Amino acid sequence: MGYKEVYGRWQADPEAFWMEAAQAIDWDKAPTKALTERGAGLYEWFADGKVNTCWNAVDRHVENGRGDQVAIIYDSPITGRKAEITYAQLKERVSRFAGGLAARGIEKGDRVIIYMPMVPEALIAMLAVTRIGAIHSVVFGGFAAHELAVRIDDSRPKAILAASAGIEPGRVVPYKPLLDNAIAQAKTPPEFCVILQRDEKPADMIEGRDVDWADLEAAEPAACLPVEGNHPAYILYTSGTTGKPKGIVRDNGGHAVALRYSMEKIYGAKPGEVYWAASDVGWVVGHSYIVYAPLITGCTTILFEGKPVRTPDAGTFWRIIEEYKVSVFFTAPTAFRAIKKEDPRAEFLKKYDVSSLKALFLAGERLDPPTYHWLKDNLGKLPVIDHWWQTESGWPIVANPFGMELKEVRPGSATLPVPGYDVQILNARGEQQEANEEGSVVVKLPLPPGCLPTLWQDPDRFQGSYMRAFPGYYLSGDGGYKDQDGYVFIMGRIDDVINVAGHRLSTGEMEEIIGAHPAVAECSVFGIHDELRGQVPVGLVVLKDGVDTDNEIIEKELVEMVRNAIGAVAYFRRAAVVKRLPKTRSGKILRHILRKLADGTRYDLPSTIDDPNILQEIKDVMAEQQIGDAFQN
Ligand code: COA
Ligand code: AMP
Repeated sequence: MGYKEVYGRWQADPEAFWMEAAQAIDWDKAPTKALTERGAGLYEWFADGKVNTCWNAVDRHVENGRGDQVAIIYDSPITGRKAEITYAQLKERVSRFAGGLAARGIEKGDRVIIYMPMVPEALIAMLAVTRIGAIHSVVFGGFAAHELAVRIDDSRPKAILAASAGIEPGRVVPYKPLLDNAIAQAKTPPEFCVILQRDEKPADMIEGRDVDWADLEAAEPAACLPVEGNHPAYILYTSGTTGKPKGIVRDNGGHAVALRYSMEKIYGAKPGEVYWAASDVGWVVGHSYIVYAPLITGCTTILFEGKPVRTPDAGTFWRIIEEYKVSVFFTAPTAFRAIKKEDPRAEFLKKYDVSSLKALFLAGERLDPPTYHWLKDNLGKLPVIDHWWQTESGWPIVANPFGMELKEVRPGSATLPVPGYDVQILNARGEQQEANEEGSVVVKLPLPPGCLPTLWQDPDRFQGSYMRAFPGYYLSGDGGYKDQDGYVFIMGRIDDVINVAGHRLSTGEMEEIIGAHPAVAECSVFGIHDELRGQVPVGLVVLKDGVDTDNEIIEKELVEMVRNAIGAVAYFRRAAVVKRLPKTRSGKILRHILRKLADGTRYDLPSTIDDPNILQEIKDVMAEQQIGDAFQN
């Protein structure tokens, strides 16, 4: 069935459409009803069904004869390790680890934080938590102690599962001091921590609090606990416009149904095939397309611990595709920009046979036309597909529906709304824009299965962030337009969220951090265009009267503060002291004017933050445009 027909079938009867899709997963009790409306923009899917996500991702495949199929391929060029885990082995390890958690008192509904690098145990931990009906919250391993502490206080976990260290090119990142520091900062410490010791940097254990990973995996296995379809499977925190991240809730039933649906209908991946998403389990792409979707579908998933370049070279992606005969590959455009920078003529690609690939999917940020064309030029007929979605949705909102039918690719567009999503473009008055007119990208309610039902213990913020701007619609936070054929073009965030190398970050949070510097009177952080990372943050600060510290020292201290609080991944490297920030008469900072600087095409700024003249050039543009006041030198 082609896209148009499927979309039409969904429009004609959304509930029947999703009830049919729900048959593709195993239910302990089949739902009798698809959608339950709770009022005020709150909806739940398959609320009266009973299901277990881990059963669908693991046990079911063993029952159905896939026990000997490889479930997880671990390829870690950064440590030189490789391993394969079959579905039968995965079931054994997950059920034992789940038994270990249960024996230590983890019950249905308890929260468990997972703070781990890209190792198989991270997946085992996630699956074990869902197996016993508990709720995981994975925290990206590149986040520093403060970020972890904020998430501990919001989710109040009974346990934290962590590794002793992560590995980055040229350095080992000890996690344990970050974990201990976060627990010291948090108001609600966990009851216990489980530590996976890595040879690169084993950690000292805290007596009475820390337990060795191996002890839990030695426990008696636990069975899958069926939970209600609307019971939360996980919380994933994502950046909003303020310093406090938003706890995106994901349910069990709708999540499993939507991901299973997306694998075949969008990605065109079938059970038994090798599917690879080169991301990190700390982000939504990792949750959905490294862990749950491929495993629920019975695919082999690849867990890659390394970088697209430098581990060891720009050929790593191609090597993995050849070695494991990857069918469908998904990553962020920034990864290919990094490869292109090191290997502009794609010499490495010529060394490998990547003919197993059916399609390449990109998301996490806009697929810029130069990167698209570089990929097209080098990959021949292979479909190169941009698609758009968010942590909130958990799966694609706009995509080229490859699994149904490959539509014409229009560079710069994420193609067409996925069945389940009625995507519209509204102006500030809430009216629909004409074709090719930019506006706010919104989705008509209800959102389909798999999308966030609410924010963790904060329904008011859920309403305020997503539902109030345009009643009856979900506000995505992105701006964009539709062309005359309904192709959706996403142009970028219209709030204070920025996207740095595919990592979603809040400038508001960075402002809160640097605003705490004793010399800073006020500040603003905004994203500017960067050819490799898409965007990078830059800070402007006004100093308190009487402060005469050297500006370079202030800059160094601010950079260090952000690195210590959020992590190196924020890529906050430059800050300038200014006399005045651009403000309205009533004293509000004109953020939208600063945000315009982020647009790489609008002003002639250097193409990378690493350019030593970047601050001077920003200053010149600001002077020219009469934004704020000249820098202090
Ligand atoms: N743990 C600890 N530190 C981490 C980390 C992690 N998991 N991930 C990144 N960092 C650190 C890096 O070590 C680096 O530190 P440094 O400033 O001391 O060198 C800093 O954060 C910036 O890292 P990164 O953005 O990864 O820069 P890079 O130059 O190493 O690599 C890219 C650039 C584009 C190759 C890389 O960002 C990338 O692969 N991005 C894809 C992102 C992605 O998959 N996003 C998910 C959405 S699909
Ligand atoms: P995250 O929640 O981390 O997945 O980030 C979601 C945000 O990334 C979106 O709101 C967009 O701003 C951006 N994004 C993701 N995919 C795309 C895409 N294909 N095109 C443009 N922007 C994208």
